Amino acid sequence: MKPAAKAPRILIADDQQDVLEALRLLLKPEGFTVETATSPAALIAAAESHDFDVALIDLNYARDTTSGAEGIDLLKRLRALDPTLGVVVMTAWASIELAVEAMRQGARDFVQKPWENHRLMAIISTQAALTQALRRGQRLEAENLVLRGDSGPSLIAESPAMKPVLQIISRVGPSEANVMITGEHGVGKGVVAQALHGVSQRGSRPLITVNTGGLSETLFESELFGHVKGAYTDAKTDRVGRFELADSGTLFLDEIANVPLSQQARLLRVLETGEFERVGSSRTRRVDVRIISATNADLHSEVAAGRFREDLLFRLNTVEIRVPPLRDRREDIPALAMHFLRPRSERYRKRITGFAPDAMQALMAHPWPGNVRELDHAVERAVLMTEGDTIRASDLALRPARESGSRLEDMSLEEVEAFLIKKALARYQGNVSQAASALGLSRSALYRRIQRYSL
Ligand SMILES: Nc1ncnc2c1ncn2[C@@H]1O[C@H](COP(=O)(O)OP(=O)(O)OP(=O)(O)O)[C@@H](O)[C@H]1O
Ligand SMILES: [Mg+2]
Repeated sequence: MKPAAKAPRILIADDQQDVLEALRLLLKPEGFTVETATSPAALIAAAESHDFDVALIDLNYARDTTSGAEGIDLLKRLRALDPTLGVVVMTAWASIELAVEAMRQGARDFVQKPWENHRLMAIISTQAALTQALRRGQRLEAENLVLRGDSGPSLIAESPAMKPVLQIISRVGPSEANVMITGEHGVGKGVVAQALHGVSQRGSRPLITVNTGGLSETLFESELFGHVKGAYTDAKTDRVGRFELADSGTLFLDEIANVPLSQQARLLRVLETGEFERVGSSRTRRVDVRIISATNADLHSEVAAGRFREDLLFRLNTVEIRVPPLRDRREDIPALAMHFLRPRSERYRKRITGFAPDAMQALMAHPWPGNVRELDHAVERAVLMTEGDTIRASDLALRPARESGSRLEDMSLEEVEAFLIKKALARYQGNVSQAASALGLSRSALYRRIQRYSL
C-alpha cells in the first residue's frame, strides 16, 4: 500500500444533469475527485460507501421542488452519517430563509444558483481543507490516548548475533514491506518494531500498537476497526479503530498468533485492499498502513495445525526478523544492564554508578529465560535493594532457573502460578491460546499474567 496523495473528494447531488456536468467540468481540472448523484437515495448510498471531504447538495428535488424540506432532511442524514463531512448546500430559489435553516442544521456554507465559479471554488477548497483538518484532529486526539509520551527506547545491539537484525532493519526499514518479528518473550520485539518504524518514511507518522493477545474476541473487532454509536449496547459514541489511527503510519500487531481464526479473514481483507468498515456501519473506509507484526509462536506450525491462515501469514511475513534470545548474545548484557540502571536509579533517587565485578559476572552467567525484560526487572529490583553506590551480586539475588521449581512449599502463591504458567507455555511451545485452555484461563487473563511475571 503506497501513501496516497489526498486529493479532496467531492460528492455533488443535483437532479439536473447539466448542473452536475458544469460542476464536474469546473472542479476536476482543479485536482478534485468528483462523484455525482442525481437523487437523494443515490447521494446517501454514495456517502455510506465512501469517504468524502465535501458534499455539495442541492436542496430541491423533483418530488418537492420549493419547500426544501427534503433537502434539509438529506442534510441531517448526511450529518448523522459523518459529522466531519463538510456539507455545502445549493438553492436555486434564492431563498435566504432556507439557507439559514440549512446552516442551523449544520451545513458549513451555502451557494445560490446561478453560482459564481470563483466563489464556489473558494468555498469548496476551504471546506475540503477544514474537513481534512477536523479528521486529523479527531485522529490526533485518539492517538494521544494510545501513544506513550516518550520517544521510545533505543535499541542496544552490540553482539554478533544481533548484526543480522540491525542489517535487516536498515535494509527493509525504509521500504513499505510488511515485516514479521519473531523471538521468545522479552527479547525486544517491540523495540525492533519501533526501530523499523523509526527508519521508515512513515517515521514522523504514528506507530500504533495493538496487543492482539490481550483482546477478547468481541473487543478485537472494535479495537481494530472501530465502531459506530449503537453498534453494541454500550457503544455510546463512535469509536476510531487502530487501523484508522495508523493511517499513513505503521500498525504494530503484537502477539499476532493469538488472533482468533474468526477474525483472521477480516484482517486479511484489510491487508489486501486497505478497506474495512467500522462495526455497525456499512460504509467502507480506506487506509494506507504498513504492518509490522510480532509473535513468539512458530506460525508455520500454527498454519499446519489449522489455527492460522496461510494466506494471512504470507501477507504478514514479506520479511521476517528473528530476534535471538539473550543467552545467545551475552555480549549485549553489560550495555543493556547499564541502559536499565540509569533511569531506574533516577526513579528511585539513588546514586548508583555501576555493577561490582561479581554482579556483572552473575549477570553474564544467568540463563535469562525471560530475556531482556527479565534483565530489566532484575536490575530494577537490585536498584531497590542496593545500599551503596554499586550493585553487588547479592543485591541481584539471581536464582538458577531450575531451583525455582524444586520446593513447592518454599514458594509464594505467585511463584507457583508463574511456575505453572511457564510449564504450560513450554508444553505448548509458547502458544498462549493452548496454554490458556490447559490452565483453564481466558487468553487475555493468561496474557496479563505473562506480562505481570515477565514470562
Ligand atoms: N536491544 C534492546 N535495547 C534496549 N532495550 C531493550 C532491548 N531489547 C529489549 N529491551 C527492553 O526490554 C523490555 C522487553 O522488550 P520488548 O517488550 O520489546 O520484548 P518483546 O520481545 O516484545 O516481549 P513480548 O514477547 O513479551 O512482547 C522493554 O522494556 C524493552 O525496552
Ligand atoms: Mg512485545
